[in-house]
Amino acid sequence: MLNWKLIGTISLGAIVLSGPVSGHSGATGIVKERMDGMGVLADAVKSVGNMLRGKTPYSAEAVAWSAGAIKAHAGENMTRLFPEGSLDKPTEALPDIWTQWAEFTKLAEQLTNDATVLETGANEKDATRVALQSIANTCKTCHEQFRAAKKH
Ligand code: HEC
Repeated sequence: MLNWKLIGTISLGAIVLSGPVSGHSGATGIVKERMDGMGVLADAVKSVGNMLRGKTPYSAEAVAWSAGAIKAHAGENMTRLFPEGSLDKPTEALPDIWTQWAEFTKLAEQLTNDATVLETGANEKDATRVALQSIANTCKTCHEQFRAAKKH
């Protein structure tokens, strides 16, 4: 006979053990969703950076794929994960996001444009290098304005 109480305990344990995948344990809901999206961006940038540094073989398809992943987490897809006042712990988002919403959305759109440039130039290593630099600048500009400085 099945012991439902035991099964319940096991599956709850599995959920707890599988835990948060992002760097921030304890994030839930929309804060976790946007942190995960940012994590995808970081992975995409890293993957292209590794190809440019010769750590992995250069592949135009892989660059274009990363550009697509960036686009999928930029623009509206990014800003919709920042509903006004969503500052649940352990967020690093700053309240300035909502007093300077136009600037925030402009940077998110800029990232979409940068990713399009990356995609278009994927066949050319030099173009990829320039495009990746623009992307990194956009990430940095937004983080400097709208993300709390790292405490760890
Ligand atoms: C329009 C603004 C904006 C842009 C553009 C942006 N970010 Fe972020 N990013 C944020 C904010 C705000 C946070 C803090 C989110 C939070 O903690 O709730 C963040 C957090 C992060 C985090 C930490 C996630 C975590 O688990 O805590 C990483 C990694 C990150 N961004 C990478 C990137 C990369 C890489 C790019 C560029 C490809 C980028 N971001 C572009 C605003 C932006």
